[in-house]
Amino acid sequence: MLELKNISKSFGDCVANHDVSMKIEEGTIHAIVGENGAGKSTAMRIAYGFYTPDRGEIFVDGEKVDIRNPHDAIALGIGMVHQHFMLVDTMTVAENIVLGAETGNAAKLDLDQAADEIKRLSSELRLGIDPYAMVEDLSVGQEQRVELLKALYRKARILILDEPTAVLTPQEVNDFFAILRRMKEQGVTIVIITHKLEEVLAISDHVTVMRDGTTVGDVETSETNKRELAKMIVGREVLLRVEKTESKPASMILDVQGLSVAGRHGTAVDDVSFHVRKGEIVGIAGVEGNGQSELVECLAGLAVPGSVSGSVSFEGSDITRTSARKRKEMGIAHIPENRHKRGLLLDFDLSENAMLGVHYRAPLAGAAGLLDSAAIEKRTAEIIEDFDVRPPRPELTARSLSGGNQQKLIIGREFELDPKLLLVSQPTRGVDIGAIEFIHRKLIEMRDRGAAILLVSAELEEVTALADRLLVIREGKIVGEVDPSVTSAEEIGLMMTGGDDEQ
Ligand SMILES: Nc1ncnc2c1ncn2[C@@H]1O[C@H](COP(=O)(O)OP(=O)(O)OP(=O)(O)O)[C@@H](O)[C@H]1O
Ligand SMILES: [Mg+2]
Repeated sequence: MLELKNISKSFGDCVANHDVSMKIEEGTIHAIVGENGAGKSTAMRIAYGFYTPDRGEIFVDGEKVDIRNPHDAIALGIGMVHQHFMLVDTMTVAENIVLGAETGNAAKLDLDQAADEIKRLSSELRLGIDPYAMVEDLSVGQEQRVELLKALYRKARILILDEPTAVLTPQEVNDFFAILRRMKEQGVTIVIITHKLEEVLAISDHVTVMRDGTTVGDVETSETNKRELAKMIVGREVLLRVEKTESKPASMILDVQGLSVAGRHGTAVDDVSFHVRKGEIVGIAGVEGNGQSELVECLAGLAVPGSVSGSVSFEGSDITRTSARKRKEMGIAHIPENRHKRGLLLDFDLSENAMLGVHYRAPLAGAAGLLDSAAIEKRTAEIIEDFDVRPPRPELTARSLSGGNQQKLIIGREFELDPKLLLVSQPTRGVDIGAIEFIHRKLIEMRDRGAAILLVSAELEEVTALADRLLVIREGKIVGEVDPSVTSAEEIGLMMTGGDDEQ
């Protein structure tokens, strides 16, 4: 149905794709896997006309086609949902879907008619989307369904999904896969990029592996397994589990007492008390949206003033009202869950991003407050080297990095501060398996050097593997503490969803 043949594409002197070839068969779900920066998004953006290739050919239904822009792609029945969503928050679902799909001057935009069509599509696939809802009121999972609707509304027969599950909770992933299967039954061909090998095995019919800008393998999903895929992706054996010794916790460094945080829709964090000691990783498990984001932002000093009650103390002093900057100076680092909103300035270069938050003080700034460019260069080079940020070029903008490399840059920046307490949310979202192994090892090393770590992750497997103690959060309350080494995922899952109460 879709074939890429010897596609090449460079950005300046960065070769993003060379000789990329793949065939996507009609009516199948085709997975594309590969390391961060391997060229997956670029290849698919070329198929969608977002970029034009320097060389190579594209065939649709066996015919050579010329795709110069997304309009051409849409006319050929190709739709794409990008790695980072592109919806306008302040508009309704229907407005977002119709936006850019108007069929010429003569056709007057009829929103109600569009809304009816959207309603029909939504109920056919059981998406549960209200065309008149405001996008800003939707959950991430719902936003994604709107993106799907947007493509289907434009009559996509081939749907390209770039890391659609990176932002979904495990529950949402199950629902989402059910939707994909229904779409497949209706004859839609689906291409899905993902870093999660369980997902590849669960949903796809075929897999294409990319490495260093090119396609290096093609397998039938039924004929492969996790280990073999991991090896094809990284080019070596990968440790698929976390290796750590028993923690040796020392004195308490963070003490949270009766903390409540008001969120946009009522109380987000509700009378929470816990502590974290030096040399331990405390995990927070919970279904996303149960207050963990607000909790971590509050501890980082980013809560809206006046929304917080209770107390937070760090090394014995009260920091409940201390600014984010001061907290950073005291030794608290923060890896935020949303790398685009909180973690990076996308149009600034890597060295500027590498000094974000500490740009005003030594060693990056001198006594007069002037930036020390040699020190900044050194810091940036260290982060790029230690965290394998690719391509290793400080002058590039953060935007031009692949998603996983953006994440590595943020992690590197916060790790280089050598914090006493690290607050970390979703550290491996969108990160390839080789880099996950690396980040997990770094977190354990940091713990073993005596740092305290508070870890929030939507991946239950990740928090249970890393945490020494695990707190379960539900509706803003901590509903229990478990020893992750002896508690089953089912048990934790029940606590997360409240199923244990019913039992
Ligand atoms: N617009 C751009 N300008 C400059 N370089 C780019 C641009 N888009 C991509 N690149 C570079 O091309 C290479 C391939 O990037 P791409 O985004 O396709 O990787 P990916 O496989 O999707 O990675 P990830 O898994 O991290 O999303 C990377 O080195 C990236 O930095
Ligand atoms: Mg990508």
